[in-house]
Amino acid sequence: MQSPAVHIFLYLFMTLIALSTDMVSNTTNRINVPVIAIDGPTASGKGTVAARLADALGFHYLDSGALYRLTGLAARRQAIDLSAGREIADITWRLDIRFQGDKIFLAGEDVSDEIRGEAAGQNASVVAAHPAVREALLARQRQFREAPGLVCDGRDMGSVIFPDAALKVFLTASVEARAERRTKQLKQKGISAIIDDVVAELRIRDERDCNRPVAPLQCQADAQLLDTTEISAGMAVEKILGWYKTAIYNRDLASNTRVDA
Ligand code: DC
Repeated sequence: MQSPAVHIFLYLFMTLIALSTDMVSNTTNRINVPVIAIDGPTASGKGTVAARLADALGFHYLDSGALYRLTGLAARRQAIDLSAGREIADITWRLDIRFQGDKIFLAGEDVSDEIRGEAAGQNASVVAAHPAVREALLARQRQFREAPGLVCDGRDMGSVIFPDAALKVFLTASVEARAERRTKQLKQKGISAIIDDVVAELRIRDERDCNRPVAPLQCQADAQLLDTTEISAGMAVEKILGWYKTAIYNRDLASNTRVDA
């Protein structure tokens, strides 16, 4: 006859085994889900292109910049100094974020418009430079990797978050073309903007995002470079779809060759 303590121990032990098996199989399942990682500077059109690609392929979509914008907004609202990386990371772990179609909610409030402003972008860029904040958002971003696939955009999608992505793209455009697009977007929203000011803001953000010590924005050696200065979003989507088909074909070919060998 075993004592109750032994039963409790066995129960806890079996639960632990079941949980870890589940975690391992979840992780393995995620690893098999294809990812298209699109990185690039502010206003390079990566958000539009990534969302259209996700639509065309029936994949999930992650706008990782929105997570940093939400983090900046939450820090501001809680009156936390944006230079206090540790404190911001502490609230980042617990952020109540919900993506629903085009809408983004923070603690149940629709903040979709608020996080799209230029101030929110600058705040996001500042909080994103803290290693502790990036660490706090790492697992949350990887959870978006779900079947049948994921298209994500940001600054470190291919380098840090999904280094095993099936396809990595670095989308860029001249600062003038980016500023023109951003000014047009702002005007469409009824926000007045002067192109020279927008160019200056983009340069500040580029400088901070490209030169921070952790996960700086850089075109990786294994990424396809796509300059959209002279091409439309539709043409960029077509180009990336072509690269993706080739990448998947080559991957399948390599795995068949391995099986045959
Ligand atoms: O893509 P975006 O403009 O919404 O991003 C806002 C800021 O967030 C950007 O200036 C830098 C930061 N960011 C980042 O550091 N890493 C990401 N993967 C995405 C955004």
